[in-house]
Amino acid sequence: VPDRLSREAAVAFDEASPLRDRRELFAIPAGKVYLTGNSLGAIPKHVPARMAEVVAQEWGEALISAWNTADWTQLPWRVAARIEPMIGAAPGTVHVGDSTSVTLFKTMVAAVNLRPGRDVIVVEPTTFPTDGYIAQGIARTFGKTVRWCDPADPAASLDDDVALLSLTHVDFRSGAMFDMAAVTAAAHDAGAVMLWDLCHSTGAVPVDLAASDADFAVGCTYKYLNGGPGSPAFGYVAPRLHDSIEQPITGWWGHARPFEMRRDYEPAAGVAQMTVGTPPVLALSALEAALEVFDGLSHDDVRDASLSLTDLFIALVEARLPGVLELITPREHAHRGSQVSWRHDQAYGIVQALIGRGVVGDFREPDVARFGFAPIYVTHADVYDAVEHLVQVLAHDEHLDAAYATKDAVT
Ligand SMILES: Cc1ncc(COP(=O)(O)O)c(C=O)c1O
Repeated sequence: VPDRLSREAAVAFDEASPLRDRRELFAIPAGKVYLTGNSLGAIPKHVPARMAEVVAQEWGEALISAWNTADWTQLPWRVAARIEPMIGAAPGTVHVGDSTSVTLFKTMVAAVNLRPGRDVIVVEPTTFPTDGYIAQGIARTFGKTVRWCDPADPAASLDDDVALLSLTHVDFRSGAMFDMAAVTAAAHDAGAVMLWDLCHSTGAVPVDLAASDADFAVGCTYKYLNGGPGSPAFGYVAPRLHDSIEQPITGWWGHARPFEMRRDYEPAAGVAQMTVGTPPVLALSALEAALEVFDGLSHDDVRDASLSLTDLFIALVEARLPGVLELITPREHAHRGSQVSWRHDQAYGIVQALIGRGVVGDFREPDVARFGFAPIYVTHADVYDAVEHLVQVLAHDEHLDAAYATKDAVT
């Protein structure tokens, strides 16, 4: 029996994994250990050919007819139907098309509109910046107030003034994960509406919006869903709210009958009223194709693989570099997403030196080295190799190289 922390054991884990055939579906350059799927997912191998086809045949030859012949009008809904089962959303509850930030804006305003007379939006100060910025913009524009909660106890910030509690399910910096059902119940007990940002969850950790009774959710598709840089975000609205929401960007694609070209706005029924303008067909086509890699996968297998990878990474770093890096990701499975983050004074240099060796993680201010584990294509052997490189970087002081004294624009 090989040592639990040996490379042989890692390879044996990969060979026994129910996800073992999936990595082959991705075009990951040879020799690269890609631990940034929580920022930009890898590209599935079949996506370039599909894109070439869409460009040459649908756009190139069919031109405007492709709206009908290639069913471009239904493309956002086909993508939504693929995402719904991944997040415990009933059919007809998800829309896709704008950026995460714009989808957050539409959704937060729709949420706040459900609670007239309540003026507070509660957000955790550790959230991804755009979530806080959007809440602040809404507060300025609509005469609301942002209240920052303690991420360890968001419920403590709830009272009769709170219209909306908006939280990121898995924290982008630490990888800490909220208990979705418990926090949602606390928001509802206080009479508030609950919105979850699922950017760091979808495709990597189980999410059940219906069972958690969430009101709204928003998530990007370019991380664990591998939709490509800047691919369109999705939004979720609980079906019980479809008849009472009012969203602020009343564009023509959200109209009940867009091609009647009427003067006055009339919202479409159901979740379609959350849409705004012409769908980004090329981006949606890439995303639609990319989502095929999830066909037939069990959520439990994905979660098991994610925990096994992150457990191994933590165990190897702590065994081989005791006391060198400070773990800021929760050890308890129930509170951990699919990434592992470490604090170190030279975190930026460490990440850059690793990238120089083909191990791609990223850096987040002020001193965090962040490693994402997309369970569908990261292997246990990758984890072993990443830690071996980390040991070498620190042994040879590669992280102290003068080249890393100034930071690149994207870290
Ligand atoms: C939690 C979270 N929300 C939102 C975003 C980004 O929003 P957008 O897609 O509009 O850039 C990110 C990006 O990393 C994120 O991590």
